Amino acid sequence: MRLVNVLALVGLPVLSLALPNPSAQDEGTGAGTWSTLAPIPDFTRQEHITVVLSPTTFAIIGGIIPDSQQPGNISTTGLVQIYNATSNSWRSIASAPVPLNHPNAAAVNGDIYLLGGLEAAPDGMWRATPACWVWESAKDKWRAIEPMPAPEARGSAVTAVHDGIIYLAGGMTVLELFAGGKQGTVDVVSAFDTRAGKWITLPTSARAMPEGRDHAGGAMVGGKLYVLGGRKEGQHNVKDTVFVLNVVDRGKKGLESGWTTRHGRMPTPRGGLVAAAIGDKVFTFGGEGNTAEGSNGVFNETEVYDISEDKWQRLGPMPLPRHGLSAVATGGKVYLPGGGTLIGGGGAVDVLDAFSPGHGGGCFSG
Ligand SMILES: *[C@@H]1O[C@H](CO)[C@@H](O)[C@H](O)[C@H]1NC(C)=O
Ligand SMILES: *[C@@H]1O[C@H](CO)[C@@H](O)[C@H](O)[C@H]1NC(C)=O
Ligand SMILES: *[C@@H]1O[C@H](CO)[C@@H](O)[C@H](O)[C@H]1NC(C)=O
Repeated sequence: MRLVNVLALVGLPVLSLALPNPSAQDEGTGAGTWSTLAPIPDFTRQEHITVVLSPTTFAIIGGIIPDSQQPGNISTTGLVQIYNATSNSWRSIASAPVPLNHPNAAAVNGDIYLLGGLEAAPDGMWRATPACWVWESAKDKWRAIEPMPAPEARGSAVTAVHDGIIYLAGGMTVLELFAGGKQGTVDVVSAFDTRAGKWITLPTSARAMPEGRDHAGGAMVGGKLYVLGGRKEGQHNVKDTVFVLNVVDRGKKGLESGWTTRHGRMPTPRGGLVAAAIGDKVFTFGGEGNTAEGSNGVFNETEVYDISEDKWQRLGPMPLPRHGLSAVATGGKVYLPGGGTLIGGGGAVDVLDAFSPGHGGGCFSG
């Protein structure tokens, strides 16, 4: 019902994958097209994470859903659902052993590594757990793996894989759910080697980002981890930076991984945004902390970062602006399941929409 209401509000037609979307026109500048796909079943969802399992499938893990016991309240979930782009349909798999919001996760060879996140603590706050699991696709079962070093426990890290190693950059140790509550932003970088099944120690120059960030956008492109925007200690303290970790491949001697800050700044500083890369373009969407809307508003911005040029370009606004969502790129499209639509942090939706970049040679030259 919420889906219908929200879509009616923004005038967006509900269309199946197979049909061309008559409303989705290029915006003249090659801004790209949007389509609306099968909604997430069962619950509206936000503060989850999305990982690609195969070229045509991705999974959404954890987050917050409406509390069925207490209408109007939310609860943290371990629910995991897989979307299949070929059939435009969803199915559930085994739930994560512990409900987590702001989880850190990545997929390697179709298995899902869930590397900590925030738990709903007995005192009503969201606090980090170092516990880690892998979901083995062949068994549809979760198995505990080595926990994250306890001092590095956090949720909301940028999580990305290179060469079988999962990198976690930044994140938050706690989110106290009241006005002015603590939001424990960290600059810590951690790495889990999926081949060895162990957390590894990164070189000193790679162990901390130039500055703490949580709720940032992230993408791994060509052995470099990009951390875009995000926030530091609170929704309003939004950032426009591009931090880059140059990852040195296994076995390479005499070189050290390390962080730099790129010259190009995001046109609109944002936290709670999402990012996904297609080729060497990183597309960023939405977020929260938009003071133009009064207090902690939602951003509608779609902005693309051209890695090779170190330049940003604004594209047309999202048809349904959201924060606290998650995005993945596969098959030349960015998929954006769920997210919150309301000023102040809530308003979760079950919407899945997809963004296809504009076509034609000059489309990103603007
Ligand atoms: C929502 O949860 C809070 C905290 O647990 C509780 O105080 C409140 O009564 C709940 N509201 C409803 C409508 O159940
Ligand atoms: C996705 O759906 C297609 C079409 O129904 C099916 O052939 C394929 O096996 C599905 N893929 C997965 C991974 O479930
Ligand atoms: C997008 O957000 C900007 C800044 O908050 C606002 O000025 C603009 O009107 C919004 N665009 C649409 C289409 O809602």
